[in-house]
This record gives sequence, structure tokens and C-alpha cells, in this order.
Amino acid sequence: MVTEMKTTMTKSVNAVVAVTLALLTCAPWCIYSQQPHQLMVNMTTVRNAPALGAFCLDGSLPAYHIHRGFGAGARNWLLQFEGGGWCNDIDSCLERAKTRRGSTHLMSKWEVFSGILSNNASLNPDFYNWNRVKIRYCDGASFAGDAVYKNGTTLLYFRGQKIWEAIILDLLPKGLGKARKALLSGCSAGGLAAFLHCDDFTKYVPSNASVKCLSDAGFFLDERDIGLNHTMRSFYKDLVSLQGVEKNLDKNCTGSLPFPELCIFPQYALRFITPPFFILNSAYDVYQFHHGLVPSSADPRGHWNRCKLDPAACNPAQLDVLQGFRRDMLVALALFYKYSARGGMYINSCFAHCQSESQDTWFGVDSPRIHNKTIAEAVGDWYFSRRITNKEVDCAYPCDTTCHNLIPANTSSGLVEDLN
Ligand SMILES: *[C@@H]1O[C@H](CO)[C@@H](O)[C@H](O)[C@H]1NC(C)=O
Ligand SMILES: *[C@@H]1O[C@H](CO)[C@@H](O)[C@H](O)[C@H]1NC(C)=O
Ligand SMILES: *[C@@H]1O[C@H](CO)[C@@H](O)[C@H](O)[C@H]1NC(C)=O
Ligand SMILES: *[C@@H]1O[C@H](CO)[C@@H](O)[C@H](O)[C@H]1NC(C)=O
Ligand SMILES: *[C@@H]1O[C@H](CO)[C@@H](O)[C@H](O)[C@H]1NC(C)=O
Ligand SMILES: *[C@@H]1O[C@H](CO)[C@@H](O)[C@H](O)[C@H]1NC(C)=O
Ligand SMILES: *[C@@H]1O[C@H](CO)[C@@H](O)[C@H](O)[C@H]1NC(C)=O
Repeated sequence: MVTEMKTTMTKSVNAVVAVTLALLTCAPWCIYSQQPHQLMVNMTTVRNAPALGAFCLDGSLPAYHIHRGFGAGARNWLLQFEGGGWCNDIDSCLERAKTRRGSTHLMSKWEVFSGILSNNASLNPDFYNWNRVKIRYCDGASFAGDAVYKNGTTLLYFRGQKIWEAIILDLLPKGLGKARKALLSGCSAGGLAAFLHCDDFTKYVPSNASVKCLSDAGFFLDERDIGLNHTMRSFYKDLVSLQGVEKNLDKNCTGSLPFPELCIFPQYALRFITPPFFILNSAYDVYQFHHGLVPSSADPRGHWNRCKLDPAACNPAQLDVLQGFRRDMLVALALFYKYSARGGMYINSCFAHCQSESQDTWFGVDSPRIHNKTIAEAVGDWYFSRRITNKEVDCAYPCDTTCHNLIPANTSSGLVEDLN
């Protein structure tokens, strides 16, 4: 279970790795796969981090990538948390500390800015001219831990909360402190971070600024797996306790539940989040399907292997399970759907994980749509209050013909991740 969780990845991150690899090891085919106009952005290391006790798992300095806004967007800020799973015990964190998931020394120093991070108005109509920041993920607990593990021979920093604070403090004098509009977003474990830090974020920007938050593929559900085990719940319980996350969870939420660690689940914390929030998620999120709903521990014989790679290969009983997962997600979102007047939602039925950072799912001629609306249009309409209703829920699989159903494992990206 732990192995599965920690090797998670986001589609966009894979895309970046794929691009980087394509640039490094240019086989004949890659000439055709290289996209023109690809914006690559330099890494900035946070020099004042040690003074704040902010370190990556391995002790390296936290980092981000910033591309400056211009024109009408010069005083608007988009902050995007990188994703990439979690580590919830000493062994998996030690392992992670030796990879690009736990050390900025091992990360790519240039990141592709595409989708919501693109600077091209025809690819990213509403945020292209904002200041756009990608916050690198190297703590393993969605930027919410605050602890250290030390036993004489081994030292691990669980300082995600400090990393978040150090990066914000670094950005304030660069203009964030005078922002007019701000959007805190993130994908996967970064999408969870957007839930965990949304309220917090408002403290740092001017009180008259417009602050909103967006979670992409971060609505991790408190759902039993197919063996009726609480796989996600026990994973998060270990994560919260190992990395000292509980004190950074929403206090209103932890005060309201008998098991405060459950407040790491967005479905429990959501009603306490004050700024307007947009929830972007697939109802069949591939990561949750593979690691939460049908972890290999619950399917030791691999009955689900083909279905996991291709929804068309699922049998009727498996489809029922997937439809049940979708229903439970919609139930968990029902109050938000009904009562959050300023909230937005885009729950589509594509087999996907992270749809805002990759250009083809964010905004393109053949991007996924609900009611003919792309994700970029839905998020932009919501942010700028261009419509009265901002909540889109797709019909159940397989009705949506605009899906790409790109499942990471059947692309080269799965391999790339394994090779790292
Ligand atoms: C922006 O994207 C469009 C569509 O891909 C492309 O035709 C155009 O050249 C791009 N502009 C710049 C400045 O890269
Ligand atoms: C990379 O960013 C740093 C600031 O973080 C800057 O000083 C440096 O010149 C940049 N390098 C390139 C090649 O753009
Ligand atoms: C410290 O912890 C690591 C990882 O669990 C272990 O390999 C090592 O033996 C421990 N060292 C001591 C002195 O206990
Ligand atoms: C917020 O207030 C400051 C100081 O009064 C002002 O300069 C700024 O334009 C205001 N920002 C917005 C978004 O209204
Ligand atoms: C449930 O979890 C326990 C403990 O991890 C494990 O031993 C058991 O095999 C699991 N059962 C199923 C049906 O997945
Ligand atoms: C959280 O609790 C504080 C103090 O108890 C209260 O003032 C505030 O309104 C609560 N926030 C929400 C969103 O419930
Ligand atoms: C869907 O939206 C596109 C533009 O994004 C438009 O050209 C097309 O006419 C729309 N189709 C329908 C059926 O409304």
C-alpha cells in the first residue's frame, strides 16, 4: 500500500519529465513529439528558508518557478502546488528523500508551464498574463507537516508547512504582497494542499484582494476499498501522525470531529473554508481508482488489472463499483453543490488525474467538455463571475464522448516514473 501511494504522480509532471527526456535523449520520433512554443521556466531557490526551518525531506532548500505577469495581469497571482503522492512511514520517506520527490537537488531545474500556467492567451485565456508560480513539492505531506525525525544516523525533515510559509514570504516582496487578484491551486497532492492552505493564504495578501482557490484532482474521498478496508483513511492517519500534520489542519474542523485526523479529507474540511473554492475532479479519478478503491492489496489476484488500464475492459460488476464510487463522490459534494453560492465545480467522467496543467485537457479544440464548456472556460467563468451557475457535473461513464481517457500506465510516463 505504502509503495503504491508514494509512487503516485501527476499527469502533468509526467508530461514535463517526458518533455525533458525527449530533449535529453532525442530519438528520431521525438522531433514530432516536441511541441513548439513550450514555455520553460527557471527554478528559484528559497535562500531564507533555513531561518524559518523550512527544508525538503533530505534537508535541501525549497524552491519554486516564477514567470512574471504583464499588462492587465501584472498584479494578479496564480500559485500552483506541485503534486506527487505522499510518504507515510520512515522507510518510504527515506526512499523518497533520495528522489526528485524529496529533494530539490534532484529535481529538474526547468519546468514546462502549460495549461493553466501557460503565457499564451490562446492556450490559457484568463490567466496567461498573471504572475504564475509553480511551488515544488518535496515534503511528502501536501505542505502541511511540521516535524523532524532524528535517531543518530538518520535525519528527515517533515517541514511542509514551513516550506509553504517560506515560499509565501519570499514572494510577498516580489509583488504578492500587493496582489489584486489571487488564485491558489494545485493538482493531486497539490490539490489537497490547496484545500489545506486556502484559508491560510488570505492572511498574506491584502485584505481587499480577491482570493480564490482551486483544487484539481485533490478531492480524495474517505472511501472503503473493494475489500471494505479503509485504505485511504489508514494511509492518511499514518501520514498525519508521522509528519505532525494535525496541528495544521483546520481548527474548526478538528474541533468538530471525534477523529481530528479525518480533517485532512476535503469532504470534512470543505464547509469551513471561507474563500470561494472551485473543485475540479474526475468522478473516476484514476489515482483514487488505482490506489484507494482498488489497491493491489485488495485485488491480490489482479482481477482488475485490465479494467484499471482500460475502462472499456471492465466487466459489469467492475463498472458497478466505479459507478458507486462516482455516486459517493457526488454525495460527498452534495452540500457544496447546493449551498456554496460562490463555489464552482467541474466533475467530469473522464478517466484522468489532473486536468489543469496539461494543455490538451485544459483548453484545446478537442479538450474534454461538459455542456460544451472546457475546463479553462469553466474555471475562468467562475473566477471572474461571468455566469450565475458555476457547477458542472457530467453524466456517468461512458456517456461523455469528449474524454481522452488517458490512463498514465498505458503511456510512456509510467515507465519514466519507474526509471527515476
Ligand atoms: C500561442 O498558441 C497558438 C496556438 O497553439 C500558436 O499558434 C501561437 O503561435 C502561440 N503564440 C506564441 C506567442 O507562442
Ligand atoms: C534563473 O533564475 C535566477 C533567479 O532565480 C536568475 O538569477 C538566473 O539568471 C536565471 N537563469 C537563467 C538562465 O535564466
Ligand atoms: C535510524 O533509523 C534508520 C531508518 O529507520 C535505521 O536504518 C537506523 O538503523 C536507525 N539508527 C539508529 C541508531 O537507530
Ligand atoms: C486595495 O487597497 C489599496 C490601498 O487602499 C489600493 O491601492 C488597491 O488598489 C486596492 N486593491 C483593490 C483590488 O481594490
Ligand atoms: C485489509 O487490511 C488488512 C490490513 O492491512 C489486510 O491484512 C487485509 O488483507 C485487508 N483485507 C482486504 C480484503 O483487503
Ligand atoms: C471557525 O471558528 C471561529 C472561532 O470559533 C469562528 O469565528 C469562525 O466563524 C469559524 N469559521 C467557520 C467557517 O465556521
Ligand atoms: C461549442 O463551443 C464552440 C466554441 O467553444 C462553438 O463553436 C460551438 O458552436 C459550440 N457547440 C454547441 C453545440 O453549442
